[in-house]
Amino acid sequence: MFDPKVIRRDFPIFERKIDGYPLVYFDSAATSLKPIQVIKAVDDYMMRFSGNVHRAVHTLSYEATEKYIESHQKVSSYISAGSWREIIFTKNATEAVNLLAYSLGLHLISKGDRIITTVMEHHSNIVPWQFVARYKGSELLFVDINEDGTLKEDQLFEYINSRTKILTITGASNVTGYMPNIKKIVRDAKRIKPDILVIVDCAQLLPHRRINVQEIGCDFIFASGHKMLGPPGTGFLWGKKEILETIQPFMYGGDMISKVSLEGADWNELPFKFEAGTPNIAGGIGLGAAIDYLTFIDEECLIEHEQKLLSITFEELKKINKVRLYVEPSGDNFVGIISFNVEGVHPHDIADFLNRYGIAVRSGHHCAQPLMNRLKIENSVRISFYIYNTEDEITHFLEVLKKAISIFS
Ligand code: ALA
Repeated sequence: MFDPKVIRRDFPIFERKIDGYPLVYFDSAATSLKPIQVIKAVDDYMMRFSGNVHRAVHTLSYEATEKYIESHQKVSSYISAGSWREIIFTKNATEAVNLLAYSLGLHLISKGDRIITTVMEHHSNIVPWQFVARYKGSELLFVDINEDGTLKEDQLFEYINSRTKILTITGASNVTGYMPNIKKIVRDAKRIKPDILVIVDCAQLLPHRRINVQEIGCDFIFASGHKMLGPPGTGFLWGKKEILETIQPFMYGGDMISKVSLEGADWNELPFKFEAGTPNIAGGIGLGAAIDYLTFIDEECLIEHEQKLLSITFEELKKINKVRLYVEPSGDNFVGIISFNVEGVHPHDIADFLNRYGIAVRSGHHCAQPLMNRLKIENSVRISFYIYNTEDEITHFLEVLKKAISIFS
């Protein structure tokens, strides 16, 4: 049975109070809370075997290396990758997409080529491609959304021409929670242009849905470890081995080489070719523990739980005068995110008021300004749910929000 009240016992942070109030954490889309199992895995590395990886034969280094590689294997199984060697640990999703922009984009893209993305993207899946497009003189096209927040898929397919090399698209919006039908998009895009490379930003998707990269049929995904119960400073890139083997490294230095002479260097085998320097060993090991934790959660129950929280909250928000909502999370293609505004009140003021009652939400443009422009707003309050949130927390949130509205009015 999936019971958030039981799950919460694994999260020591719920023991603390914020200004005397129990913590209500509705900001998991920014970073999730961490269960004791992840904290202990990091602690265990620090306390018991904090050697460097891949470098020495001594026991600490050997144990650290084993655990670090084991974490790659866990991520690999979690997303059904072909091999753990296809999993490259990065410090976050942003670093993973920058790796692709530099290692793939700069080498694959020529003047006049086309890269397609969408207006729904987080800045991290826009700005690196703007850099590539400007640097290489290529086109960067943005697929629009419909009024209900869904993606204009027809436009996406119309944009694919003979010069299109890359399609990079989010698996779930960090503002609206909308999940495009990635499997269908990849299939149809590859029907039109079989050699198009499709990259999926799974930063908001993977914490909520288990995915199978083989079934999706894309070429790369990237995600944030810290949004899926892992430690901060963790993220990863998955790519098909045959592509990763042919593209250039991103960072150069120690560990990513197999041989160096004064004339040049040969690259190490995967994934180390892309993991230059001493990595975030403790974080990587903690990410493995996070994957173990998520593996034990029944996905169907998690989805049902989040859908329930989403629909209760959305329906209640709709009833409150002055609350402006943008995209209705109808159907099952939304993860647990709602953005809203209160007429005449800045979202930071709402967030600040909520915080005084222990409620953590994000306010601002959510690093997705093109989408905010498209929704004709500058900022919003965003609430995001995860495995540990409860209906009682929603009740508290709604009461405090109503109080805020009456005071600010
Ligand atoms: N990308 C994170 C968010 O949407 C930080 O809040």
